[in-house]
Amino acid sequence: FAPRHLLSIADLTPAELTTLVRNADAHRQAIKSGSTPKSLAGALAGKTIAMTFSKRSTRTRVSTEGAVVAMGGHPMFLGKDDIQLGVNESLYDTAVVISSMVSGIVARVGPHSDVADLAKHSSVPVINALSDLYHPLQTIADFLTVHTAFPSAANTSSSNTLGLEGLKLAWVGDANNVLFDLAIGAAKLGVDLAVATPAGYEIPAAMRQVIANAAAGAPKPGKLLETRVPEEAVKGADVLVTDTWVSMGQEEEKARRLKAFEGFQITSELAKRGGAKDGWRFMHCLPRKPEEVSDEVFYSNRSLVFPEAENRLWAAISAIEAFVVNKGKIQ
Ligand code: CP
Ligand code: NVA
Repeated sequence: FAPRHLLSIADLTPAELTTLVRNADAHRQAIKSGSTPKSLAGALAGKTIAMTFSKRSTRTRVSTEGAVVAMGGHPMFLGKDDIQLGVNESLYDTAVVISSMVSGIVARVGPHSDVADLAKHSSVPVINALSDLYHPLQTIADFLTVHTAFPSAANTSSSNTLGLEGLKLAWVGDANNVLFDLAIGAAKLGVDLAVATPAGYEIPAAMRQVIANAAAGAPKPGKLLETRVPEEAVKGADVLVTDTWVSMGQEEEKARRLKAFEGFQITSELAKRGGAKDGWRFMHCLPRKPEEVSDEVFYSNRSLVFPEAENRLWAAISAIEAFVVNKGKIQ
């Protein structure tokens, strides 16, 4: 049997994404009130989860290690200078060898094809911990954050919905890996998303198609609006979101990017000029640099960035439970 992998939010049905977020929320509440759910306690006892990371990480590393330990397993962190991969050994050989000794692999890579190839040749589930195209664990945490910040008027406790339909997110900044999975998730969950990027930094056509496919498969798809005008994206938004303008691996483009993104910093003046909703909130996956958001927004009581970061732990528990413990059965 080929294992089921989590490489992108596109791999999930709308109902599965909803369940992963709801499970993350339930685990958060249970563990914070002092009781580890029975389904989690010891679920990974005696098992190892390999973490092959070719790039730096704070949140993804800490949350994944914490999640594995919460389930009684052993997280084995394998940074790029620790293993033979890429220097003395191929991705194929590495995938076959590591997967023969562990129960799951959480992998942070450069090109998305690396995590796709790893998954193809792995005999155990692979979870993408960031590639140049997708960041599914971040998206699960982000919708948990929105769900918690905007408790729905609808009674969502007995139905499999997050009650987010009709909310509007505004992304102002670079069209990158974090945005792509967020956009796919928004389409699936009925959340509208407006994206403002400078000319030359738009969502690539192939990715626009992936997002459109996600919308086509959703019962009440969220709408995607693209613009070059930050104010237009912000209009009527419930949440303003951004990420760094210079992702890991783009360091050489830094000067050009900082120039291209001038005028795209999220500030309260922008929110006001653009007409964001009165109760607008701010999200950022972190790590944050000052150019994409002012301190005055980032450290304000509108900012959800620190609960959003903590939610990475609950998202990791939910995803590892679904893909490693329950072998891709998301229930
Ligand atoms: N948001 C996020 O993935 O952060 P790290 O790079 O610190 O893991
Ligand atoms: N877009 C950023 C996200 C880091 C979590 C990067 O790829 O570096």
